[in-house]
Amino acid sequence: MLEKTIKPYVLSDHAESDIRDRWQRPLHDLRISVMDRCNFRCPYCMPEDKYHKNFEFLGTSQRLSFEEILRLTRIFTGMGVRKLRLTGGEPLLRTNLPDLIGDLSRIEQIEDIALTTNGVLLAQQASALKAAGLHRVTVSLDALDDKAFAVMSGGRGNKDRVLEGIEEAIAAGLTPIKINTVLQRGVNEDEALKLVRHFRGTGVIVRFIEYMDVGTINHWQLSETISSRELVEKIRAEWPIQPVARNYHGEVAVRYQFDDGQGELGFVSSVTDPFCGACTRARLSSDGRLFTCLFASEGLDLRTPLRAGASDEDLQAMIRGCWQDREDRYSEQRADQTNSRKKVEMYYIGG
Ligand code: GTP
Ligand code: 5AD
Ligand code: SF4
Ligand code: SF4
Repeated sequence: MLEKTIKPYVLSDHAESDIRDRWQRPLHDLRISVMDRCNFRCPYCMPEDKYHKNFEFLGTSQRLSFEEILRLTRIFTGMGVRKLRLTGGEPLLRTNLPDLIGDLSRIEQIEDIALTTNGVLLAQQASALKAAGLHRVTVSLDALDDKAFAVMSGGRGNKDRVLEGIEEAIAAGLTPIKINTVLQRGVNEDEALKLVRHFRGTGVIVRFIEYMDVGTINHWQLSETISSRELVEKIRAEWPIQPVARNYHGEVAVRYQFDDGQGELGFVSSVTDPFCGACTRARLSSDGRLFTCLFASEGLDLRTPLRAGASDEDLQAMIRGCWQDREDRYSEQRADQTNSRKKVEMYYIGG
């Protein structure tokens, strides 16, 4: 049975956002998916049998151009967005990505630009990304053991290249580096302690994300989710850790520090401890749809008006209306069985 805590909604101090949704949440973060394709086939996200070589991903002209992304981002920053994250699929598959990052980093109001990657192409791109103005990267890594890594990446990845990518990102100063690890019970749960052991003392922050019912193709079962509470106890038995304060209002990960000063860990508990009350995140898909929740069924098409000559004011009015109508609080409402509902897929919206 799914048990969870629902916290009261707290108004954030994001004073610069002048719009609020129906739960009084401002718009502060924009997560931009720049590419729907990925070079991995993680079974919980893009299982090979569905995303095979004949699967039709978006064509180049269907994806927003850099110019279009820049224009929309400027409109979003005019409405309070201060934090950007570039996602995919795999964002490093997008040609000339540093050019986009350069343009985004020159938007005056932007305080933070991060990127989420599977890390395989990171070693060769880290210094160019940093030079373009990227602040930091988060690398998805679900296993260190070769066999478990192969299972979790659908046989596509290369763990050593991911580890090299992390090293190069550290050398380039794309820090603090965070690792996102999704554990699935009975699949890679033994990897948790190995990952903690490997990265303790390196400055790299490992964060465990509770396996969620994003999309429908992974046929999520609650029994496969390992709760953060269970994991904290398991880690504590080996290395004493204590919770520490959040870095900022609305941070999704709860932070813990090692008692012996060897760094910190994070736990993202959307299933057992939802954080919808402080959710200030909008998501833009690579074909220009605006989603106001990771679990949404539909997104607002911004590409059609954009290409039909809409003015900045028109686009701003559309985004404003969409955010003001927003009522999303999916993780608080989630039931044990959720696969019958239409939901956008993770690789398309970027997590
Ligand atoms: P920081 O800026 O470093 O704090 O990053 P972040 O934690 O906001 O972003 P990141 O993408 O690394 O988040 C980690 C994971 O948490 C994502 O991959 C998602 O799986 C999950 N997550 C992030 N935002 C949300 C959200 O709004 N709702 C839910 N349910 N999960 C989220
Ligand atoms: N539950 C939790 N996290 C997920 N991710 C992808 N699918 C899921 C899921 N069902 C993670 C990836 C990556 C980030 C973008 O989201 O592992 O770290
Ligand atoms: Fe690619 Fe990330 Fe999905 Fe894995 S989870 S298939 S790396 S987009
Ligand atoms: Fe935000 Fe939706 Fe995640 Fe809740 S479930 S935190 S509303 S994205």
